[in-house]
Amino acid sequence: MAEPAKLYFSYNDIHKTVKSLAQQIKSSGYEPELMVAIGTGGFIPARILKTFVEKPVYTVGISYYDRENKPKDAPQKIQWIDEVEQKLEGKKILLVDEVDDSRATLEYCLRELLKHKPREIAVAVLHNKRKDKRGIIPEEVDHYFAGRELDDLWICYPWDADDIDYQDKMSK
Ligand code: G4P
Ligand code: MG
Repeated sequence: MAEPAKLYFSYNDIHKTVKSLAQQIKSSGYEPELMVAIGTGGFIPARILKTFVEKPVYTVGISYYDRENKPKDAPQKIQWIDEVEQKLEGKKILLVDEVDDSRATLEYCLRELLKHKPREIAVAVLHNKRKDKRGIIPEEVDHYFAGRELDDLWICYPWDADDIDYQDKMSK
């Protein structure tokens, strides 16, 4: 049986997508004061985005899938900002993640961050999958940016690759 279709991206693809994301953010006029990356998938995109946005990156860890890759009942905090939380009040925040899939993690994270009364909050994802979403983007969110809109297929990211040469070959 043929394997289900997957989408492969190279580090080069990711870098270019982040650059176009940065251009979208800039042309919207949104000027974040800090970024919050959702780990672990959001770490590398946020670090690349820092090259273009030049703002500090804080990180949080949220897990929605268990070890067998089954969705849990609700997203769970693995690691949270703690003392950084106070720094969010009155600030313009950009939440960064690699993929908007079910939107459940994004919604959870946005609602947690909104509790700390940021002045404005926006979301940036590398990839948005076109599908019915379980979560919603709360209406307090000022901007939503996606580097690319994709069909609902499994995305293979270079940082998950065991064989990076195969990853590059499949990304062509
Ligand atoms: P969302 O709010 O961003 O849509 O996320 P959702 O709760 O639906 O699930 C997020 C988890 O599923 C994330 O992993 C995310 O990386 C992973 N995921 C969803 N679709 C894909 C895909 O097509 N490819 C890959 N590689 N991962 C996908 P996580 O449990 O938060 O862990 P981590 O991988 O970020 O550490
Ligand atoms: Mg993730």
